[in-house]
Amino acid sequence: PPGPKPWPIVGNFGGFLVPNFIWRRFGGRGGEDVPKSKTRTLISPQVLITEQAKVYGNIYSMWVGSQLVVVLNGYEVVRDALSNRADVFSDRPEIPTVTIMTKRKGIVFAPYGPVWRRQRKFCHTTLRNFGLGKLSLEPCILEGLAVVKSELLRLSEEDTEGSGVDLTPLITNSVSNVISYIALGQRFHHADREFGALLDLMARGLEIIANSAAVLINVFPLLYYLPFGVFREVRQVERDITAFLKQIITRHRETLDPANPRDLIDMYLVEMLAQEAAGETDSSFSEDYLFYIIGDLFIAGTDTTTNTVLWMMLYMVVYPDIQERVQAEIDAVVGPDRVPSLTDKGSLPFTEATMMEVQRMTVVVPLAIPHMASETTEFRGYTIPKGTVIIPNLWSVHRDSTVWEEPDDFNPSRFLDDQGKLLRKECFIPFGIGRRVCMGEQLAKMELFLMFTSLLQAFSFRLPEGLAPPPMHGRFGLTLAPCPYTVTVRPRQ
Ligand code: HEM
Repeated sequence: PPGPKPWPIVGNFGGFLVPNFIWRRFGGRGGEDVPKSKTRTLISPQVLITEQAKVYGNIYSMWVGSQLVVVLNGYEVVRDALSNRADVFSDRPEIPTVTIMTKRKGIVFAPYGPVWRRQRKFCHTTLRNFGLGKLSLEPCILEGLAVVKSELLRLSEEDTEGSGVDLTPLITNSVSNVISYIALGQRFHHADREFGALLDLMARGLEIIANSAAVLINVFPLLYYLPFGVFREVRQVERDITAFLKQIITRHRETLDPANPRDLIDMYLVEMLAQEAAGETDSSFSEDYLFYIIGDLFIAGTDTTTNTVLWMMLYMVVYPDIQERVQAEIDAVVGPDRVPSLTDKGSLPFTEATMMEVQRMTVVVPLAIPHMASETTEFRGYTIPKGTVIIPNLWSVHRDSTVWEEPDDFNPSRFLDDQGKLLRKECFIPFGIGRRVCMGEQLAKMELFLMFTSLLQAFSFRLPEGLAPPPMHGRFGLTLAPCPYTVTVRPRQ
């Protein structure tokens, strides 16, 4: 496929990294005190990548070092590759930083094949049967939300100057606690230091590999071994996370009661015993693999959901009229005397449409997770060689003017029909599509619905007096996060 001309050695990566660095340094984090002339010329990476399709077409290529990367843009192309040609485009590439961290085990970065299929099937079924049997996880999520609400109440009372509250720590904790409950069998108080340390470590690890000079490891893998700076820090963070999770798995093994599994770790250990008893000598079920699966659940399941909730709350303060319409619907259907539950889901179409529209506009995983062509193939008139990295540009799908009217406008009603009923749209794919579609989609949807409705039922959120909203392009890292913001919180009852 056609594409921009590569630079020597670094390929197009240089052309991407330099503006990306400048954007992040000067424009991405609010950039309030940056001269207008500078911010105006900066363009966020997901937009930059989408804009290139206007020059080279919906299927274009780039080079990252010596690696050929093909970017797929627009709904038709992305669906064609990931759904119709799933047999060829469902593999994952080896990305040096990720391979070092995951050893290509777990689910997210495991190569497409029988081992990935068996592990994913086990986790998927376990999520559904244990804890995710819809109603049984609900109390856990609601319990977490009760803590969030009482904390918000306290913070709102303390905020006498009206400078606003940062929702990030509370939402992060609540979301992480859900994964922790499923995977580790325990919830942590938001002030728990051990848990807080684990979350900080994971966040730091992600921040370093996405947002620092450590990304250069992907072009020059030997940099990983440098004994200073972020390179040393990457190795230290990796060691600390390993120690924490291994200790938890050991504790589970020592206290395992196979008849009463407490969580996903126990279920996995029971499966290992069953396979051993059945004489499965080449089973991929091992404690080592389990370790990477737990890591995957935390990494894939916390940042994504947290940032989606934060985007939703940001849109609600930027569009207070929509916030009021959502609240009016919740008041009419749920009333003030009970908290919203999953059984209300079908009865709150405007609320659901609003949540979907925020997800359409923001796309927290804008470029999905890289795929790879597992064989040389012809695709829509181009030859894609085996081993090519494939980037499904989900951001471009949600801004594709051939399937969305006025795609840059925030308009929840696009998800409603004339009678106000919710419309399901095939081109709405924040969780991806095809065989690698998000494994936690159902869980995430439950969390998002309960959090969004509970928070808006209990509080009204506004921008602090006199403060402009943050730039709405967000911060591009492993996920697309909103730029930092605070809100004033007023109890509604
Ligand atoms: C993969 C989105 C929450 C677990 C993905 C992908 C996307 C995505 C776009 C990549 C699909 C692809 O590669 O084509 C989201 C969003 C979430 C969310 C928007 C929240 C709003 C979760 C949660 C979990 C989870 C809560 C776990 C409990 C995974 C896993 C994969 C994945 C394991 C890898 C699947 C595979 O490679 O087979 N997610 N996700 N996600 N997600 Fe999520």
